Amino acid sequence: MTVADSVAGDFPQARGHWLFGHAAQFAARAHLLPAEVGAGHGGIAWFRILHKRFLAVTDASYIRQVLVTKHEKYERSFQYRNSQVINGRGLLSTDGPFWLKRRRQILPAFRPDALQRLAPSTSEATEAMLASWEGYRQRGEPVPAIAETQHLSLSVIGRALLSTDVGRGDSERFGAAVRDSLHLLRRRNTSWMAPPLWLPTRGNRHLHMTRAILDSYVTRHIAERQHCPVRHDILQTMRQAREPDGSISLDDGALRDETKTLFIAGFETTATALAWTLYALAGRPALAEELHDELHAVLRGAAPDLDSLKRLPLTAAVLNETMRLYPSVYHISRECIEEDMYDGRRIPRGSLLLLSIFGMQRDPALWTDAEDFRPQRFLGSDWPRHAFMPFIIGKHTCIGNHFALTEMMIALAMIVQRYRLALADPRPVGMQARITLAPDREIALRLDPR
Ligand code: HEM
Repeated sequence: MTVADSVAGDFPQARGHWLFGHAAQFAARAHLLPAEVGAGHGGIAWFRILHKRFLAVTDASYIRQVLVTKHEKYERSFQYRNSQVINGRGLLSTDGPFWLKRRRQILPAFRPDALQRLAPSTSEATEAMLASWEGYRQRGEPVPAIAETQHLSLSVIGRALLSTDVGRGDSERFGAAVRDSLHLLRRRNTSWMAPPLWLPTRGNRHLHMTRAILDSYVTRHIAERQHCPVRHDILQTMRQAREPDGSISLDDGALRDETKTLFIAGFETTATALAWTLYALAGRPALAEELHDELHAVLRGAAPDLDSLKRLPLTAAVLNETMRLYPSVYHISRECIEEDMYDGRRIPRGSLLLLSIFGMQRDPALWTDAEDFRPQRFLGSDWPRHAFMPFIIGKHTCIGNHFALTEMMIALAMIVQRYRLALADPRPVGMQARITLAPDREIALRLDPR
């Protein structure tokens, strides 16, 4: 047995470049590499990026073991800790007892009853977006779907978190800062030797600058809140959280970190999923008509409220199918902190895992016509529930899943009732693994009013 074998346990090793391993492939197609490595080797296999080894996983049962049945043997990997330079110590960058306490403190802000205002504020924001779409249409210009859904998503989160409408100027600056910071973090996480943060390299200066933009925006809002009448938003609920002894749960620093985290975690994920949905519908007029029929029968042209969302199964299925094929979070990373076994094989302590949501949700062994966009599969009961987890499962399940689904359903219902969509450029749009699984170019839409 070689040294590599004793570290790797019994899982196969994907062949890569002798020095760089799969660094080039990962840099070019981060969503595809773990999916292909996992799928090509029975669901679990090792690969290397420069000096770091990762276990690529597409096997749904092992993913469940890591996230649910043996979750205590795994925790979030170094990439999440590195992101504290931007997010601070928020829900997305921590784990263990600190994270658990925070999660319990923040959870009340995301219970369905606390999100009553989300439906009216999402329809307000969507109405404003559709007014700008009408401008595009009258000028004979195509609608840039990604830019528009990003602005919508920021506007919805801004209203829900801070009772503020993030204006177009702010939206662009803030959105760019979120994107830049996550991009820089990703580069740091995969580089051979990241320079210490105190070194004034170009990358570090850029990282600090983007953090300063996010911090100043969020802190300004938290400070303004001292002098405002009570508002019914997520910030307010977080401010009101109290410990059993009556003391404040989240001080200003914690509020800043969690507010930044919620913006970062919820903005581009939702925007990208909605943009992919519009792309899928614009290329499938028959499906779009079927969807319109469902929406019209239930809503008669009105914006949905929380109750009517329950009566729109095809709308929910269309969003599920988008998130199956284009999961915004295409893989998640974990570190094994206590040796584990799976299928008779050893996962050594210290192993770094990439759980490929993308690979699992496109696994042809589990999904019929896995590569086809076929929302109807979600209408029956005969689909592999254990292999569908765009919001993951277990203790770190997305805290904003109900938020995101509500926002996307309302926006989609309003758009489809207002317009028939068509692609201005018929060339297929490809996927690009950035922070989220993004389209590789803008999606230009032509509108035909109903
Ligand atoms: C389509 C939209 C979304 C998708 C696909 C998505 C997906 C995910 C996934 C996969 C995770 C787990 C990350 C990990 O542990 O590695 C996660 C966590 C998280 N998400 Fe979302 N998310 C979405 C929208 C949102 C929204 C709208 C918010 C907030 C407004 C949000 C806030 C969070 C937070 C705070 C976490 C960390 C939860 C914890 O560990 O306690 N997400 N999300």
